[in-house]
Amino acid sequence: MLSLAVGFPNKEAIDRRLEWGLMAEKKLTFAGFAGSLRKGSYNRMLLRALKQVAPPDVVMNILDISGIPLYNQDLDIEDPPKAVRILRDAIRAADALVIVSPEHNYSVSGVTKTVIEWASRPPENSALEGKPCAVMGGSTSGFGGVRAQLAVRQMSPESGMMLLQDPEIRVSRIHTKFDEKGQLVDEDLRRDLAEFLQALAAWTRKLQAQS
Ligand SMILES: Cc1cc2nc3c(=O)[nH]c(=O)nc-3n(C[C@H](O)[C@H](O)[C@H](O)COP(=O)(O)O)c2cc1C
Repeated sequence: MLSLAVGFPNKEAIDRRLEWGLMAEKKLTFAGFAGSLRKGSYNRMLLRALKQVAPPDVVMNILDISGIPLYNQDLDIEDPPKAVRILRDAIRAADALVIVSPEHNYSVSGVTKTVIEWASRPPENSALEGKPCAVMGGSTSGFGGVRAQLAVRQMSPESGMMLLQDPEIRVSRIHTKFDEKGQLVDEDLRRDLAEFLQALAAWTRKLQAQS
């Protein structure tokens, strides 16, 4: 019986690659941050779970934003605080940015907002200008942080973020989705996270092909 030509991926392998949207050769690097500083942050757990489901052609780096000061234009000079420089460089170096934000008082947390403020300046050289971005997150209420995500979307015209529209991930009652070690226990959500990253990879490649 004739064997398949050497070097050709079999049908399953092709399907798998199509499914992941990975026909392009280049690996993509995503940077992500969670807009909460507290140790037990559920949104940071969500970001870690996202990293765990990254497809083979995506490297997901989690940014440490704990040293970022509140935005202060007096500090936003040629030599800004070191943590800000590192943040901006990391976002510039990444193919896409993932923002995982809690909802505070019907909007984004102050932490998310201040990170976006630092990243978006100076306007003529914003690390967010034209950057493929995605927002997701969760809250302990039943609304899953929808208003926080709308608030981030409202920032896109000024900041230059090119936000993924679909799918959206809003995790309601987020405190029920992880075990005591912070590991995700909801398999449906794990699948949704994988799909989210696939969609962001496709969105990133589309924007890169256009630029
Ligand atoms: C100051 C503050 C305001 C909050 N406002 C909201 C809110 O408007 N809507 C909501 O669904 N949850 C709200 N929450 C509850 C958060 O969803 C919950 O604390 C969540 O765990 C925060 O995310 P984290 O675990 O990543 O820190 C608020 C919590 C705090 C501390």
